[in-house]
Amino acid sequence: MAIRKGILGAAAFAIIGGVLIAQFSQGQQRGASSRGAHLGVAQYDDQGRLLFPEGTDRWITLGAGLGGEYNDVPFDAEHPGNLSHAQIEPSAYDYFLQTGQYADSTLLLLSFYETLEKPEPALQGFVQGALATREIHVLDSQRFPEERRAFFVYPGGTLEPAAALPVGSACFECHIEHGDLDGTFLQFYPTIRD
Ligand code: HEC
Repeated sequence: MAIRKGILGAAAFAIIGGVLIAQFSQGQQRGASSRGAHLGVAQYDDQGRLLFPEGTDRWITLGAGLGGEYNDVPFDAEHPGNLSHAQIEPSAYDYFLQTGQYADSTLLLLSFYETLEKPEPALQGFVQGALATREIHVLDSQRFPEERRAFFVYPGGTLEPAAALPVGSACFECHIEHGDLDGTFLQFYPTIRD
């Protein structure tokens, strides 16, 4: 009996070991930011353009910013530029909470709003005015094997499908160089940073 148990134990060990080795080598092929799951959330048309996702009002807020334009013009408190609001699609957020990683088909949205100075004299500061533009960052190592991501821009309130911006464009450069987690700006998002 003891021998039988021993054989079974050895077999189980070999199977588990084999699975672990297979998973490890898969992880090696995909690189450090390997993603285990594919959420299948992003929808594309037959030209590969990303459809603007529905229900983004229910997405989880990651963070907000002020005056973070993509240019070198110094910040001016009188005219602070746009307010930005970063969100993550809920199933991607759930996966992130469980694993600390982004699944394939993670959708991240950045919406820019014009700043609106509060019109009542007793109230100071700025609030969100008109929607200026929306940007989407998709992480997907299967669909975009080269950079494992793609970027899309939706000017104003447009819902027209958007083509992916070319690999190597400024979006890729800045995100890959400065984003703390897998090309995303985790360092600016209290929801997942803290
Ligand atoms: C000069 C640097 C820079 C460039 C270029 C840039 N971004 Fe970003 N991006 C940021 C920063 C910083 C944030 C953090 C949020 C904020 O600033 O409000 C961000 C956040 C985002 C987010 C939210 C999710 C995430 O990845 O953190 C999206 C979506 C996004 N950018 C899309 C784009 C697109 C599309 C382009 C190209 C048209 C682009 N970005 C170009 C700096 C950049």
